[in-house]
Amino acid sequence: MGADSVDIRALPRDLGCFTYDPGFIATSSCKSKITYIDGENGILLYRGYPIEQLAEHCEFTEVAYLLMNGELPNQTELRDFNEEISDRAIIHESLRKFFDGFHYDAHPMSMLVGVVGSLSAFYHSELNIKDSTHRKVCAARLIGKMPTIAAASYRHSVGRPFVYPRIDLSYCENFLNMMFSRSSQNYIDQDHYIDPYLVKALNLLFILHADHEQNASTSTVRLAGSTGANPYACIAAGIAALWGPAHGGANEAVLTMLAQIGSADNVPKFIAKAKDHDDPFRLMGFGHRVYKNFDPRATIIRKTCHDVLARTQKSDPLFDLALALEEQALNDDYFIEKKLYPNVDFYSGIIYKALNIPVDMFTVMFAIARTAGWVAHWLEMMEEPAPPIGRPRQLYIGPARRDFLPKGQRS
Ligand code: ACO
Repeated sequence: MGADSVDIRALPRDLGCFTYDPGFIATSSCKSKITYIDGENGILLYRGYPIEQLAEHCEFTEVAYLLMNGELPNQTELRDFNEEISDRAIIHESLRKFFDGFHYDAHPMSMLVGVVGSLSAFYHSELNIKDSTHRKVCAARLIGKMPTIAAASYRHSVGRPFVYPRIDLSYCENFLNMMFSRSSQNYIDQDHYIDPYLVKALNLLFILHADHEQNASTSTVRLAGSTGANPYACIAAGIAALWGPAHGGANEAVLTMLAQIGSADNVPKFIAKAKDHDDPFRLMGFGHRVYKNFDPRATIIRKTCHDVLARTQKSDPLFDLALALEEQALNDDYFIEKKLYPNVDFYSGIIYKALNIPVDMFTVMFAIARTAGWVAHWLEMMEEPAPPIGRPRQLYIGPARRDFLPKGQRS
């Protein structure tokens, strides 16, 4: 309204015009050196390294270090970083009481949002965000504590006692131990032997989910961070944004959808529903905002998914159904023409299910991995000399100016 007569220039560096770009499809909100995506050609680089090479050779914490610091760690740096992450995995005893306050069947993501948001109330000694040492401590704390909080959310939801983190286990082993151990100590016992191959699969999933430039949750972290909010609040905001089914909730939505489809015989019917524009149903785990030919992470994970299913020898009809859906959608003209391929979440949901991770923990798993990217972006932004507050504009389409009427005169 009246934009032609109003000077919208707010700062000397303003161009004096703005674009209407809902969903920010064509807007770069920042400059970043962290992750490069070429959606047309299916290329994903972390700090210049192809995701395929990192996925093959690295452990997750090595990739987290790379994202945060810009270079891969040497042996000593990695050992020190792993020690710091392990040391910071323990959570304040009082934080455990938080969990008692949550309803017994609360969704683990709701607990994760709440508990991570509360971390600043427990760890306010290094909260000067202008101090780079403080910032690094906060980042390591978040990476270290996230699996502990995630596993505690799960244990609360099933009424089991919490398991303390252990410093002698790797990041992924430690998480699986805190999730599934029957006692507070055991890692390998008869009932809960954790196959190193499955630990490797989890490590791979964490690496593939570690960062993806300006996705909705990372942009949320940056937007919150641009106000000077503390990093725990910023990451909690990112977790909230990740929760939606169009973003990190997609892997959970895949399993819900598979349950809805029910059996392989129903796949054609549901594919037809997904193609029907009058029907809001979409195939969860298919399509991507940026990758319009293929998702390189899906290519890597697809093989692992098939291997994990073979290795765990799970004879769950859900897995047969998933494979039938994958095959039929990949050969369907509509999906080919619209370039709708299975994305990383289609396969990650199936792998998590094979690893016995409960479905409502899937997005939590994503959040653990993405914390590496979130803190890397927050650190990068905070290193800028004067990061501007994120403040998009809008196209106002409401009523023109009008005068107030007393209640009795309103129609
Ligand atoms: N099933 C059926 N049709 C689809 C699907 C799908 N999963 N995804 C897109 N389409 C169709 C749309 O109906 C639309 O058709 P039209 O051109 O005839 O109108 C066309 O493909 C383009 O769809 P958009 O929504 O405009 O594509 P956009 O790039 O904005 O959306 C998104 C990407 C949100 C991921 C979408 O593909 C989707 O909803 N997928 C299912 C949810 C999902 O798997 N999300 C995970 C994303 S990956 C991640 O977060 C790690």
